[in-house]
Amino acid sequence: MRKQIAAANWKMNLTLQQGETLIDELLSTPHELTENQLAIFAVPFPYLISIKNKLAGKKNVFVAAQNCNNKKSGAYTGEVSAEMLKSIGIQYVVLGHSERREYFSESNAMLAEKVNICFENGMVPVFCCGEPLAIREVDTQNSYVETQLKESLFHLTAEQLTGFIIAYEPIWAIGTGKTATSGQAQEMHAHIRSVLAAQYGNTVADSISILYGGSVKASNAKEIFGKPDVDGGLVGGASLIAAEFAAIINGLK
Ligand code: 13P
Repeated sequence: MRKQIAAANWKMNLTLQQGETLIDELLSTPHELTENQLAIFAVPFPYLISIKNKLAGKKNVFVAAQNCNNKKSGAYTGEVSAEMLKSIGIQYVVLGHSERREYFSESNAMLAEKVNICFENGMVPVFCCGEPLAIREVDTQNSYVETQLKESLFHLTAEQLTGFIIAYEPIWAIGTGKTATSGQAQEMHAHIRSVLAAQYGNTVADSISILYGGSVKASNAKEIFGKPDVDGGLVGGASLIAAEFAAIINGLK
């Protein structure tokens, strides 16, 4: 059975002290993770070790980096390598968020390299995909997302993709308060799974957790996560509020 996942993406928000307070508040707010559910906190690089230590011993709870560089090491001032993340015990890395694609010119080809280097270092990518509004308006989102998957992931082996995590985040729904309907999310998630199945077979496709991201909040999480191909969410704004994120965790199937 594939994992159901509530992933928080703090983006470039909060000081360390605010982040620690948020975790404390969250831990004291009733929430429950069953055997098949995970919570992942994608926090800024400087907080990874502290937040990881704070969450140590919590079952099914992990921290993730929000990015890593596509190169192994070298003269890339200001960058963070996959090997560095591995050396501090990180197991998950968010890759290809639309903000990175847009503001830092990350291409599908570069993301294929990032995915590879994560695997080389034993970490699981949380691979983001999703279309801008202009693509949705002309109803070509399926082929747009398919190209993102093909160009960044389809060189991988079935073994690497088994248990993989994909986040579908329509750009027009990120930080806008305009959520995709649960029907729109299900439609795209089913499409993504069918594209994966055509390439890798049903067993692999069925093992991949596909998260929805874009204005997920306590009030809509349960309905969106209730759809058969939606395996949880990647949450920005609402993950910065303990009560909201606790409720989102409780909305997992
Ligand atoms: P919001 O939840 O703030 O819309 O952000 C979604 C997102 O980008 C998560 O990665």
